[in-house]
Amino acid sequence: PFYKSLTGLSQLEEKIRSHFGLKQVIVVAGDADSSAQTKKELGKAGSQVLGRVLRPNDVVAVTGGSTIAQVANQLTAPQPLKTNLFVPARGGLGESLDYQANTLASTMAKRTGANYRLLHVPDHLGEEAFASIMQEPNIREVVDVIRSARIVVHGIGEAAVMARRRKLDRREIDAMTQDGALAEAFGFYFDKNGSVVHKMQTVGLRLEDIVNTEVVIGIAGGKSKGEAIAAIMRFGHDDVLVTDEAAAQQIVAMI
Ligand code: F6P
Repeated sequence: PFYKSLTGLSQLEEKIRSHFGLKQVIVVAGDADSSAQTKKELGKAGSQVLGRVLRPNDVVAVTGGSTIAQVANQLTAPQPLKTNLFVPARGGLGESLDYQANTLASTMAKRTGANYRLLHVPDHLGEEAFASIMQEPNIREVVDVIRSARIVVHGIGEAAVMARRRKLDRREIDAMTQDGALAEAFGFYFDKNGSVVHKMQTVGLRLEDIVNTEVVIGIAGGKSKGEAIAAIMRFGHDDVLVTDEAAAQQIVAMI
């Protein structure tokens, strides 16, 4: 019966929550790898969590990807969030337009009557270009706002999938694989213990900003992401995890 499967989900939630020391875990039914409905439910649950933690004047930094896009497309606010600001967590990371952090930050703001600021910088900056772009007053100002975010909402991916999606070159991919890269979040690549093994020089949130962010909300599901999600939870700076049953089962089998 239905109540039984609900009990099953809340047991998964509690196991994961207590193992990783999270404040809250939400597990939605199904497997986002094969069900568009489950992916949508992840987004809905994610948007509800965000609605609950949001306070006046908060800056919210968001990453890109198809899962956070589901959050953006379902985010609502009872009253216009006139004092809130949505920003992308980082500069362009080679996502298609619909899934770019800039797009999602502006969608969230428009849907809720909040404000947004965008960061228009390309992927893969060389040292020199990076240094000079960071001196542009307009860019600098947005970057400072991003780094002041009280809330970060982020997706999680498998390292290999994300490296391919971002068209990293062979050499970079090989080096990363050798170092055990398995998960990706915020533009960083992590091994199974949650240690950062590869960084991309992009403008926006640095590791130390994530460590210091008050509320970090990770949203990712699908059986294929179980290991990657566990790795990011071992990194240890998330407060809330929204995932699905299939990923949760993988995670629980590992802990
Ligand atoms: O590129 C942005 C990003 O949030 C990554 O950090 C993450 O690995 C990925 O997107 C998740 O994408 P999706 O939700 O489409 O699997």
